[in-house]
Amino acid sequence: MCGIVGAIAKRNTVPILLEGLKRLEYRGYDSAGLAVVDGGALRRIRSTGRVAELEKFAQADAVSGALGIAHTRWATHGAPEERNAHPHVSGGVSVVHNGIIENHDAMRERLRAKGYAFVSDTDTEVIAHLVHSNLQGGRSAEHTLFDAVKKSVAELIGAYAIAVVSESDKSCFIVARHGAPLLLGLGDGENFAASDTSALIQVTQRVVYLEDGDVAEITLGGHTICDARGNTVARPVFVSQLTAGAVELGPYSHYMQKEIFEQPMAVANTLEMVTNAHSVAPQLFGADAEEVFRDIDSVLILACGTSFHAGMVARYWLEGFAGIPCNVEIASEYRYRDSVPDPKALVITISQSGETADTLAALQHAKAIGHRHSLSICNVPESALLRASGLRFLTRAGPEIGVASTKAFTTQLAVLALLTMVLAKLRGRLSAEGEGDLLDSLRHLPTALASVLQVEPLVKVWAEKFAGRHHALFLGRGIHYPIAMEGALKLKEISYIHAEAYAAGELKHGPLALVDEHMPVVAIAPNDALIEKLKSNLQEVRARGGELHVLADQDTRMTASDGVHVIRMPDHAGILSPILHTIPLQLLAYHAALQRGNDVDKPRNLAKSVTVE
Ligand code: M6R
Repeated sequence: MCGIVGAIAKRNTVPILLEGLKRLEYRGYDSAGLAVVDGGALRRIRSTGRVAELEKFAQADAVSGALGIAHTRWATHGAPEERNAHPHVSGGVSVVHNGIIENHDAMRERLRAKGYAFVSDTDTEVIAHLVHSNLQGGRSAEHTLFDAVKKSVAELIGAYAIAVVSESDKSCFIVARHGAPLLLGLGDGENFAASDTSALIQVTQRVVYLEDGDVAEITLGGHTICDARGNTVARPVFVSQLTAGAVELGPYSHYMQKEIFEQPMAVANTLEMVTNAHSVAPQLFGADAEEVFRDIDSVLILACGTSFHAGMVARYWLEGFAGIPCNVEIASEYRYRDSVPDPKALVITISQSGETADTLAALQHAKAIGHRHSLSICNVPESALLRASGLRFLTRAGPEIGVASTKAFTTQLAVLALLTMVLAKLRGRLSAEGEGDLLDSLRHLPTALASVLQVEPLVKVWAEKFAGRHHALFLGRGIHYPIAMEGALKLKEISYIHAEAYAAGELKHGPLALVDEHMPVVAIAPNDALIEKLKSNLQEVRARGGELHVLADQDTRMTASDGVHVIRMPDHAGILSPILHTIPLQLLAYHAALQRGNDVDKPRNLAKSVTVE
């Protein structure tokens, strides 16, 4: 979703702003722009192409300035056209914005009545005019840009992260956040702001995370933060562990490819705490976890997209092994539903980014209606979701840049398996022997993932055929049904092939009508308790001409024949089987998308961090 960078320095900030935008490209965008204060005048350039095109414009026009703001826009209000691209300008004031201003219509009318003319379809333009109006013509002791922005954000309803510059004051830029990510980067005699740490990695690792309601003035020498109540506050400084190498492509062609192949290491890092342990302890989830886990009588999982699928897998584990009732709900539905709170439920939010607006709002809603216990499983340190949760577990997948979530998913599942063990043990449902066996399985997981990645050449052959199809069906049963859903999501989001997932037993209740020789069908067929049932369902498909692509265990009795293609998984992982079966599905989507010539890492219309609802 939109990305923001701001900088003030004694040198030209344009290269810093452009590099920051390039590092935010992964979030998804359809236009880009920047504004600098050059001498005493504001200069703005915008482009509906990639950041590289904006860079060419900047070079051609010799744009430079020691103070600037920049933006990648993911269109919400108004088409992706240059006039809607940020920064927006009002007089000498320029604004970039991430989020949605809900009261923009009413504000537009008010500002029009004051004589402001609107030239874009965006909600953001109202912020530029509002700040300009509140600035009332320049800097004085009583009327700084800082004051004008504080006054302006008090009038905004909605979610935003903004950065503002004014040509009337070259000594600072102002940022504010409410419901969208924004942090400050502290340099040596120069300072910055950005949507995430990766944008600033080339200039600083010292960051300050802003809280909702904060407005900050950033100068060459430092920063001043005012909280939502108008008090000046000091926020802690963190040293980001992110390294430039972690966000470089290295020998890979795409981030998605890199992230698929990083999964053995990502899972090993995430499980590091249990690698040498003989038992699992609740404290893995936080100092208060044991007290909380002993108090709960159910689990409610809230998440979106791939993270939701991780929650669906976890339900099978939590009910089956820990014997604890578990509901899993799409965050964007839950937040607007009249539900019955259970104060003894553990609300688990799962998110790669920790900034997904719907998941954050669902957690806030759950708390507001009376849930007392919360746990977040998240991949981004200091993200809003981690900070909003009572208990937390940081997956250590490393930065996930590709829009399609891969290593975040498998690390989430590893943590959810660990949580299942902890809860099962606390509830007297896990023997010492069982605990040892499961720990062995978790320890073996990185090795098993590495061997499953070896099926890539076989999956590539499938992908070449899928690339020419318009539709695909994914089937699974039991705990592998959510894995079928994840496979379908991966395929549709990066290859744009229409894909549906069904619990295979449900096929005959409708979707079987879709099956003919043009419908490739992927079946996840581990040798588990439901394998014979699944085989019957697959017969129903084959009898209608559907071409089967079966992911089978070594000991699943299924042989390849005309219209039946079988890839045997080189390793198995007992109850962790869903984690392994995910890998070929990720590879299938990746290679099908490549075949179709798609931008694998930045699929159309999608964003990495979905910070608006
Ligand atoms: O950052 P989150 O895990 O909260 O994101 C949730 C979804 O937006 C995300 O999983 C999305 O579905 C992915 N693009 C799927 O690959």
